[in-house]
Amino acid sequence: MKIPDFKLEEFWKKYEFSTPHILSLSDAEPWGLKEILALADSESLDLWENLHLGYTESPGLPLLREEIARLYSTLDKDGLFTTAGAEEGIYCTMQALISPGDHVIVVTPCYQSLEALPRALGAEVTTVALRPQDKWKLSMEQLKSAFRPSTKFIILNCPHNPTGALLSKDVLEGMIELARAYGTYIFSDEVYYYLEVNEADRLPSIADAYEKGISLNVMTKSFGLAGLRIGWLASRDKEALRKIASYKLYTSICNSAPSEILALMALRAKDVMIKRNRDIMLSNLQLLDRFFKKYDSLFAWIRPESGTMAFPELLLPISVNEFSEKLVREAGVLIMPGSIFDFPGNFFRVGFGRKSMPVALQHFENYLEKYATIH
Ligand SMILES: Cc1ncc(COP(=O)(O)O)c(C=O)c1O
Repeated sequence: MKIPDFKLEEFWKKYEFSTPHILSLSDAEPWGLKEILALADSESLDLWENLHLGYTESPGLPLLREEIARLYSTLDKDGLFTTAGAEEGIYCTMQALISPGDHVIVVTPCYQSLEALPRALGAEVTTVALRPQDKWKLSMEQLKSAFRPSTKFIILNCPHNPTGALLSKDVLEGMIELARAYGTYIFSDEVYYYLEVNEADRLPSIADAYEKGISLNVMTKSFGLAGLRIGWLASRDKEALRKIASYKLYTSICNSAPSEILALMALRAKDVMIKRNRDIMLSNLQLLDRFFKKYDSLFAWIRPESGTMAFPELLLPISVNEFSEKLVREAGVLIMPGSIFDFPGNFFRVGFGRKSMPVALQHFENYLEKYATIH
């Protein structure tokens, strides 16, 4: 299988560890090991202290899977297995369930592997592009016009990277009805769950809502634990899960033993962890609201419905690629141009999950003030 360069991950390779003010990260503030251990219950602390560093069970530590299953209303631990981050979940799903010639619908812009892997596997991909004039909300008309009776997969990401949009409840229900009528799988990348701006807007996970739904989630984003590389796939379709899980034996085989215990601790302290991450994100979002109001002649702001990202438009007569290159070179501030998502126009991603975001935004503002006097 020939796969193209992963533009977004190449972008991070270039900038993430060398840029002082990153304003485009997608994950919540990372936690320290000591903080996680301080939140741990006695059972998981005991597991940690007596941990042996051999191979682990391929589907994941049973206790961890039980804890993950509590996040769903229709599943027990056998309705899911763990993966090395979300990326392995995407990779194994596509490898296991997509064959050359399959018709696949992908909602774009998207995290590149959601579209690139089906294409590389020979699927016939129809993209459905979210539109700024719809506030990035998918419409049923768009979906229906892409759908065929033979559609094997609908692939989406909700809450959405890079726009922060959510599906509307009506569209989710309509999509499930359509998929059910033709036996189509829905793969929903739900890695930004729990960071909806209004918690009442949280949608049911696709694994709960639809019997052929496959949900992807991970400790990386909403929890702020990217370094654990623990994700999972959940579905009521046991046969699909079995096929996907068999691919894991060709990739990571099993999880890192310390990561499994740390993920268990974190999930058991979920309420505390998510609350801290939401507090950071909601306070940063207020700063962004003020910033984009102040500079409304330079940017068009579409307020995200979920953390930790938004996709505003640059209104200046300069391409966002050129602007973002100057910004990082001259002010050390990193935004992510929409071209990284192959998205046309002058859109760019800002991230607001991190504690460092207010300082990065201040540097952005200083640069804009200077820019206004030069240009
Ligand atoms: C929508 C989406 N899915 C998957 C991933 C990959 O997550 P992980 O780093 O846990 O593999 C990302 C990372 O940015 C993402 O934004």
